[in-house]
Amino acid sequence: MKEISENAIVRFKNLSKKFGDFYAVSNVNIEINNGEIVGFLGPNGAGKSTTMKMMAYLLKPTEGEIWIRVNGNLEKLSNHNKDYLLDNVGFLIENPFFYGNVSPRMILKYFAELKGYPIKKVNQRIEDVIDMFGLSDWIDKKIKTFSKGMRQKIGIASAIIHNPDIVVLDEPTTGLDPQARREVRDFILKLKKIGKTIFLSSHLLYEVSEVADRIAIINRGKIVAFDTLDNLEAKAKKSVIHIELLNHPEEQDLNNILDNLKEILTPLTGITKDLNWIKYNHDTKTFQIFFNGDPKNQFSILKTLLANNFEVIEFSVPKAGLLENLFIDLVSNSVSNPSDNGFNKIENKKSILMEE
Ligand SMILES: Nc1ncnc2c1ncn2[C@@H]1O[C@H](COP(=O)(O)OP(=O)(O)OP(=O)(O)O)[C@@H](O)[C@H]1O
Ligand SMILES: [Mg+2]
Repeated sequence: MKEISENAIVRFKNLSKKFGDFYAVSNVNIEINNGEIVGFLGPNGAGKSTTMKMMAYLLKPTEGEIWIRVNGNLEKLSNHNKDYLLDNVGFLIENPFFYGNVSPRMILKYFAELKGYPIKKVNQRIEDVIDMFGLSDWIDKKIKTFSKGMRQKIGIASAIIHNPDIVVLDEPTTGLDPQARREVRDFILKLKKIGKTIFLSSHLLYEVSEVADRIAIINRGKIVAFDTLDNLEAKAKKSVIHIELLNHPEEQDLNNILDNLKEILTPLTGITKDLNWIKYNHDTKTFQIFFNGDPKNQFSILKTLLANNFEVIEFSVPKAGLLENLFIDLVSNSVSNPSDNGFNKIENKKSILMEE
C-alpha cells in the first residue's frame, strides 16, 4: 500500500467491468485526493456511469478494487463494509427518478434516514440544504410540479443530504439551462470550499475544466489521461485554424477540395503523426486544420492557400481550441480499431467539445 498517496480518499485499482465479452470499463486506476475535484470526462458510452455504479455498489466489478477512506482508514469496498463506507459518500448517478406525489422534504428525509443521518438534526439539515439550492418555497410542493432543472437540484440535494465527505455526481448538469448549469457548478465549488471531495462526470470539456483540479479522461473504458488542467494544457501543443472561403463549397466538390487542401497543407502543419486532420464543419461552414500551433506554420498555411487561389475571407485560431485538440488527440490515440478514420473520431467526439 506504500505507493498510494497519503491523501487518497478514493482509489480505483485495476478496475474493470465486462458486459458479456465487452469491457465497458477496462483496468481503470485513479486516485482521488482528499478535498479535490476530479473531473471524469468522456464521450457517451465511455464507461463513466459504469465506473460510478461500481463505486456505489450497484454493479459488481469484474476485476479490480475500489478503496474508500473513512475515519482515516482506506478500506477496500466489499459486501461487509459497503454500508459503513458508502454512508460517507453521496451519489447522483444518471438521471434521478422521483415519484411525482412526493415533496423534496419527504425525499430528503428518506435519503437522510437511509444513510444514517442523526434523526434529531434531520429537519434542520433538510431546510439548510434546500435553502442552498434556493428552493425553500418548494420544500413541501409535489415533485410532479417541478421543472427538470429543479428535479436535478433535488437529485443533487439528496446526494449530499447526509453530509458525506465524498460526493459523486454523474453528469449533474445534463438537461439544465445555462444559468442552472452555472448554479450547479458554483454549488460544486462551494462543496469543495467546505472540504468535500468531488468526483464529477461530464461529457463537456469546458464544464469540467471550470471546476476540476484534475481531469481523468476515459474513452472506451480506458483512462487515456489523468492530470491537472495546466499539465494537460502544456501537453496540448497543437492548435486549430478555422478557415472560411468566399464561396462555400458545394457538397459534391467537398471531397476534392479536402484532398487538395490535404496535399498542399499537410507538410506545413508541423505535425508528423497522423494528426494532421483537415475537416469541414457544415454548421459553421469553415475548414478546420490542425497544426503545431507555431505562428510560422500558421503563416505558411495562409500564404499557400492564397498562392493556390483559395479565396480566404476568414483565418483564425480560436484559443479555446487547445484543450479540445488535446482531447481529440488523446481519444483518437487510444482508439484501437484501425478501420476508424480520423474524421469519424472527430465527429464522434463533437459532443464532448460543444455546449449543447
Ligand atoms: N447493464 C449493461 N449491460 C450491457 N452493457 C452495458 C450496461 N451498462 C452499460 N453498458 C455499456 O457499457 C458502456 C459504457 O456505458 P456507460 O453508461 O458507463 O457510459 P457513460 O460514459 O456513462 O456514457 P454517457 O455519457 O452516455 O452516460 C456502453 O457501451 C454501454 O452500452
Ligand atoms: Mg453515463
